[in-house]
Amino acid sequence: MASITPLIAGNWKMNGTSLALGEVRNLAAKLAESAPRCTVVICPPATLLERLSEIAAPAGIVTGGQDCHSAASGAHTGDVSAQMLVDAGAQYVIVGHSERRTNHGETDETVRAKSVAALSAGLIPIICVGETESERDAGKAEAVVLTQLQGSIPAEWPGHGIVIAYEPVWAIGTGRTPTSADIAQMHDTIRRDLESRFGERGAATAILYGGSMKPSNAAEILRISNVNGGLVGGASLLANDFHAIISAV
Ligand code: PGA
Repeated sequence: MASITPLIAGNWKMNGTSLALGEVRNLAAKLAESAPRCTVVICPPATLLERLSEIAAPAGIVTGGQDCHSAASGAHTGDVSAQMLVDAGAQYVIVGHSERRTNHGETDETVRAKSVAALSAGLIPIICVGETESERDAGKAEAVVLTQLQGSIPAEWPGHGIVIAYEPVWAIGTGRTPTSADIAQMHDTIRRDLESRFGERGAATAILYGGSMKPSNAAEILRISNVNGGLVGGASLLANDFHAIISAV
């Protein structure tokens, strides 16, 4: 089996002004005491990306955007391109988060175009998929996630690859999480799909779990087979909580 470096990514969403940079300094100090056994990524709001990247880099923390446009530049007021994220120090970008899919009407096709733009700019896209509660209740969770995977992942990727994040929509920001058995089943399904379509590269792709991951449940979730890390929202905002999750790897 391919060995995959675990990855813990923090998604700050629309939270954080200059003051929040202090949390990154605190996290950097904690990581200096004992090196993490995973890649640590922070995806702050675009306004903080450059300053945060400067603080994070010496501590070995890498940064990412929370979204990018599919075009490199142009008349797209308010949008940020993948190249701009790279220019501000990013190495990753989250695409297709359920909040983008819901609040901005993003389709699998949009997400795929954004992933292609990210890859061509040299970023690793963290491509998010996940079912709603009514889809799970209707027994459609796997079918929904497989359809999203089919539509959202580019047909091919250059060397640096992609990351998949499975985030059940009903678990995001709610404090609720699926059972370990349900997480295992979905991550196995995703792994089989990636392997059948992309062979060795699919076997080597990190699959993150996201949705109410916190210090108290991280160790249990990160132990599940085919869970290669986490995409963490609320619990990534405070250095203590985020560090506890990183330490659970
Ligand atoms: P949460 O968010 O950890 O606050 O549930 C996760 C996410 O939306 O990426």
